[in-house]
Amino acid sequence: MKIINIIGTRPNFIKIAPFMQAAKKYPRLKMKLVHTGQHYDYNMSKVFFKNLAIPKPDIYLGTGSGSQGAQTGQMMIALEKIVLKEKPDLIVVLGDVNSTLAASLVAAKLTIPIAHIEAGVRSFDRAMPEEINRLVTDSLSDLLFTPSDYAVKNLTREGVARQKIFNVGNIMMDTLFANFNKIKQSQICRRLDLKPQTYAAMTLHRPSNVDDKKTFTGILKALNQIKKSLAIIWPIHPRARKQTRKFNLDRFFVPHRPGRTARIGQITLLDPLAYTESLGLFYQARFVLTDSGGVQTETTALNTPCLTLRYNTEWLETLSQGTNTRIDPEPRKIINAANKILRRPIRKKPAFLQKSKLPKYWDGKTSQRIIKIILDKS
Ligand code: UD1
Repeated sequence: MKIINIIGTRPNFIKIAPFMQAAKKYPRLKMKLVHTGQHYDYNMSKVFFKNLAIPKPDIYLGTGSGSQGAQTGQMMIALEKIVLKEKPDLIVVLGDVNSTLAASLVAAKLTIPIAHIEAGVRSFDRAMPEEINRLVTDSLSDLLFTPSDYAVKNLTREGVARQKIFNVGNIMMDTLFANFNKIKQSQICRRLDLKPQTYAAMTLHRPSNVDDKKTFTGILKALNQIKKSLAIIWPIHPRARKQTRKFNLDRFFVPHRPGRTARIGQITLLDPLAYTESLGLFYQARFVLTDSGGVQTETTALNTPCLTLRYNTEWLETLSQGTNTRIDPEPRKIINAANKILRRPIRKKPAFLQKSKLPKYWDGKTSQRIIKIILDKS
């Protein structure tokens, strides 16, 4: 059975790592890996392949950045040629990025079955490019692998046939469980000369937050207050970095230089980090501020409080069963939420991950479940 796995961005790399690993045990599966090149900087792409031992892509398309339509279109043109040549039995796509959408459209038009890992996730906000990507991909997919009961409900509500849906759990937990020792041993705090729990970590890159000057400035003003109580460490996404320059926001932070320590009263900027370093930073943080989807689930597993600066979240289970709180990205609300966490006792870090405390099937075995189903169906 020939499977083409199509990836392109950081979250795709994190999800494909355990899947490729689990597939190794089954010689019947001929796995090919195609990287669209949506993310291309060393520390947005190659570092993840090294850090997570992902096999080198068989094909690299190098499509790069562009507007929503141009980027998706470029990827489709390149992917169509590959799929016509390779004639796979199945195409695997992951998550909700533009590479996922492009791959699904190409596969569906060439009548190649599609398996979607992380199906059924919804923010119900169609202004997010990811929500469009999810809706289209799920409507075209033949095997829908969901991370949660919520996702199953979303799909059934949309009329997806029940026999196409497989609730297999959150594949990001496979990566997290497999790398937990490395995460605990990460040297990131030592590198910044920080003691555990004396800082907040931040990730922020959603267009709704960083492409709008007023919202972005408001978030940074809130951080200006919060940094009086603890250091803030921000491994910054290139999109957000570009926007800080465009909006002249560099006055808010200090870029990290080797040998310089991160301090209370400062927002310290880092280049994007490898997976185990990022998670090491979250693991030891007093709390995390984010607008990412994946980070909401990762902080839940690491028992680190998380503030999600968005008007919605697609990971409702992290609010009820996890450590996540969703906050409108407005200065006063962010400051209040941070103060609330600072008043609470520090959360004890897990010495090992307790699967029973996490949502169903967030147990590190999602890839195995998916592979069994794919083999059964072939
Ligand atoms: C994409 C995903 C988003 C995901 C995020 C993870 C879509 C619609 N969005 O957002 O869901 O959470 O990846 O990181 O697919 N850039 C670089 N170097 C790179 C990659 C990007 O400098 O290696 C810069 C470019 O200026 C580019 C911008 O970042 O224009 C945005 O990149 P893009 O891939 O379009 O979207 P992300 O914001 O990364």
